[in-house]
Amino acid sequence: MKIGCPTEIKPQEFRVGMTPDAAREAVAHGHAVLIQSGAGNGAGFTDEDYTTAGATIIGTAAEVFAQADMIVKVKEPQAGERKMLREGQLLFTYLHLAPDPEQTKDLLASGCTAIAYETVTDDRGGLPLLAPMSEVAGRLAPQVGAWTLQKANGGRGVLMGGVPGVAPAKVVVIGGGVVGTHAAKIAAGMGADVTVLDRSLPRLRYLDDVFGGTFKNQYSTAGATAELVREADMVIGAVLIPGAAAPKLVTRAQLSEMKPGAALVDVAIDQGGCFETSRATTHADPIYEVDGIMHYCVANMPGAVARTSTQALGNATLPFLLNLANKGWKQACEDDPHLLNGLNVHAGQLTYYAVGKALGIDVISPTLALKS
Ligand SMILES: NC(=O)c1ccc[n+]([C@@H]2O[C@H](COP(=O)([O-])OP(=O)(O)OC[C@H]3O[C@@H](n4cnc5c(N)ncnc54)[C@H](O)[C@@H]3O)[C@@H](O)[C@H]2O)c1
Repeated sequence: MKIGCPTEIKPQEFRVGMTPDAAREAVAHGHAVLIQSGAGNGAGFTDEDYTTAGATIIGTAAEVFAQADMIVKVKEPQAGERKMLREGQLLFTYLHLAPDPEQTKDLLASGCTAIAYETVTDDRGGLPLLAPMSEVAGRLAPQVGAWTLQKANGGRGVLMGGVPGVAPAKVVVIGGGVVGTHAAKIAAGMGADVTVLDRSLPRLRYLDDVFGGTFKNQYSTAGATAELVREADMVIGAVLIPGAAAPKLVTRAQLSEMKPGAALVDVAIDQGGCFETSRATTHADPIYEVDGIMHYCVANMPGAVARTSTQALGNATLPFLLNLANKGWKQACEDDPHLLNGLNVHAGQLTYYAVGKALGIDVISPTLALKS
């Protein structure tokens, strides 16, 4: 199969769909890998890294789209890219179609087959192609929060780990899922005094078993949250209610009770944010102040560490990518129901129920699409 990987063109996107290592593996399986010249630059991979891995460098996105049987990307195809997709071509990338009727319309019109990273599942009920980005954002949260706490950035001037004789920063993490657990691990590793709040008792039991002694955990109620937030130097928002906007767990009124210069890091901002005063910011201008409290609310945090993020995403996508290339999408999806859950569009028809419901478009079952 000819696998094509164009340069990402969405603003502020520095990741790339395939690493040189992924290209090497695909070539070893007998496939041709076509990389657009410069596609890896933002993540620190040169054209030469790809040619050494056995890939072919192609001058323009138009040539990559024209030649490839499968297109592998990171972000959803932009309007210009959608025009280059064709009937029978396979697209493997993040799509997030539910809030995006324009993209959905174009993908349906193209006749392509589109498998969305974000709806591929695993045996434990998780989302294996979303988890790596949650891991990255979680681990990044205490790092950006520590920077926000610095005096020059408007923060309280508190060092995460304190020093001998001076207490460490108090960090509260709301939500103990993938983001929250990674955030808590790193904050504790920096020497902070960390408490994780969650509403799931099984999750709290897991955190206690695995991390008891490293950080504390507490059941998430409005009362417990208010008490901890009042004393906190940093609060990290990491809640998720699948399919819903994030609940507002810290109100504006609560800010006046917090320590001046404390930092709120709202990782859940991509779902609307879990602090009442959160609004999405960018890497170019990440923090702002409300009532003396510093807010960091970047909606695409993994973009700050494009190289690590590309490698983490590449590790997660590679087995699926190889199966799609080795077997063709139909056989690969027939053999793996979790990959089939990723199928969103096939030959002009929508195959993902939640997207159809959100956009009011008829859906056919993915199993029916397999038989078509
Ligand atoms: N900003 C970014 O760049 C970025 C990157 C990756 C993920 N995210 C977002 O981070 C959020 C968390 O993602 P995740 O992968 O950790 O999800 P997850 O499902 O693994 O974890 C969410 C946790 O929140 C808990 N929760 C739900 N309601 C709660 C409440 N009221 N109080 C306390 N805990 C509650 C759940 O029990 C669960 O353990 C999502 O909104 C995700 O989209 C943002």
